[in-house]
Amino acid sequence: CGIIGYYGTNGNAVKVILDGLIKLEYRGYDSAGISYLSNSNELKIDKSIGSIDNLIRKVDKHIKSNLGLGHTRWATHGEVNTDNCHPHNVGSITLVHNGVIENYLEIKKHLQNKGYQFNSTTDTEVSCALIDSLYNDTKDIVEALYQATNVLIGSFAFGIIVRGIKKLYAMKRNSPLVINHNNNEGFIASDTSVLAPHTDSYILLEDNDIAEIDPIITIFHHKKQVNRISRPIINTDEIEDKGNFDYYMLKEIYEEPTIIEKTICNFTKNHFDLTRYNHVDIVACGSSYHVGLLVKYWIEQLLNISTNVEIASEYRYKKLIVQDNSLTIIISQSGETADSLAAIKIAKILKIPTLAIVNVIDSSIAREADNIIYTKAGKEVSVATTKAYIAQLLSMALLIENNKALFEGLPKELSHIIDNKMEDITQFAYQLYQSEHIYFLGRGVDYAIAMEGALKIKEISYIHCEAYAAGEIKHGTIALIEKNTPVIAIVTDNNIREKTISNMKEVSSRGANVLAITNEDILDFNNKIIVNKLPMIIQPFNIILILQLLAFQIAKLKGCSIDKPKNLAKSVTVE
Ligand code: G6P
Repeated sequence: CGIIGYYGTNGNAVKVILDGLIKLEYRGYDSAGISYLSNSNELKIDKSIGSIDNLIRKVDKHIKSNLGLGHTRWATHGEVNTDNCHPHNVGSITLVHNGVIENYLEIKKHLQNKGYQFNSTTDTEVSCALIDSLYNDTKDIVEALYQATNVLIGSFAFGIIVRGIKKLYAMKRNSPLVINHNNNEGFIASDTSVLAPHTDSYILLEDNDIAEIDPIITIFHHKKQVNRISRPIINTDEIEDKGNFDYYMLKEIYEEPTIIEKTICNFTKNHFDLTRYNHVDIVACGSSYHVGLLVKYWIEQLLNISTNVEIASEYRYKKLIVQDNSLTIIISQSGETADSLAAIKIAKILKIPTLAIVNVIDSSIAREADNIIYTKAGKEVSVATTKAYIAQLLSMALLIENNKALFEGLPKELSHIIDNKMEDITQFAYQLYQSEHIYFLGRGVDYAIAMEGALKIKEISYIHCEAYAAGEIKHGTIALIEKNTPVIAIVTDNNIREKTISNMKEVSSRGANVLAITNEDILDFNNKIIVNKLPMIIQPFNIILILQLLAFQIAKLKGCSIDKPKNLAKSVTVE
């Protein structure tokens, strides 16, 4: 979820908030809402289901207001409907929230006993009622917010307006929140991109800070006034449009050759020396995790360093056995994914050196990391990542090889695929788009690529799609193979090529329709796309490009919402 709060004197609240929400949409687009104090001092709330555009169509951005809050939601507690949409209002308190309150049912019961009634099923409305109740008791909003921090368990970044007080309030724990003011305007936001058009610096609130903004900022921590340093905003606000493309996803895939060139150009030898470490842990979510799975093979094979890859939401809650002289690498496009952010904080507590591979400059994960490599993907709009995945993979490949000459032919290689393989890919897509299930097979690096290929199709086509280590399918999944069940086999690794081909035969002899993506002709199979054979560390790039384009074509044939698939967010900022 993304939050924004605005205090001003020129009547711009509604416009600033709606513009800010567009920038925050990467944090979710299940629903969006705005509350603002009208000229007649009435608090208005407008909400709508779906993307920010729906809200923008509903609310006139010329309405004059000096105080307001906005929210874009990725649903956690409670289904996607207007009752569950933020801002929530209870009594004197109006509030927007990013995070998850774990003890909300307990608090809700207590408040219901006090006579509070609830319209939604959210933890946010409960937090709102809690603060209202504490405010009624204490008549002091800062005291009430402080008491609330002692009751609430979980994560929160709140933007708050209080009836009768022309100020903005903010408080947070385990969810990022930045604030600042200029001469006559004050701001609260989930990230600095929202502040960038208005101020050139920001203050990062610390856990359990409470800020009062009118627009002068006063920050309290455990009821004592504190100062927090102001940091410069690195404004990377790139304007993105679709250009001649109908979809951001396709445009971003077509940008890959250029991004590869930029990444190679930007690489400096010995910038970071992986070989200093005896062990590497890679921690990430989603496609970034899949980059980690692939990179593990490279680090082990080429550098002989033991490497462990963890899903961030697992890593953060398991017992961690710290290896001697180890490094934790966090891979994240957005730099805002809640679980990955928590993981890097844990590594720091354990005093493990950290390296972040992030795309968004000065994002929360970048701020936490001891070392950073910024990927050069530029702004990625499509929710399903493509060019950022490629940039992450290449950044890691360069780090491992420490030699950019090896990669110089890669942009051309990818352009070749785009120019020559679309027909084959579309032909595969026609065979696949009506399927209910698709299985992927691969071994080693091919298995790691298959996992990303399967995820891409799942994300944007809503087809059930799973990748299996080819040798494992006979231990259960082969039971699901029927006549014409589609199975995509990735076969690029020479050492285990024959083994994968055997597994392909096992499924085809049980009726599967095997579609091979390979770097050498496989005579026994007719349904195939053959790509150029490349050195081990370069080969995955042309395969993944084919899989990204395949996912795109399948989703297009199905008529899906390609750039904004249902239920997903570009960056998941709640755990
Ligand atoms: C979301 C996105 C995925 C992404 C994952 C991790 O689920 O939809 O495309 O791979 O988050 O995001 P990150 O920004 O940390 O790479």
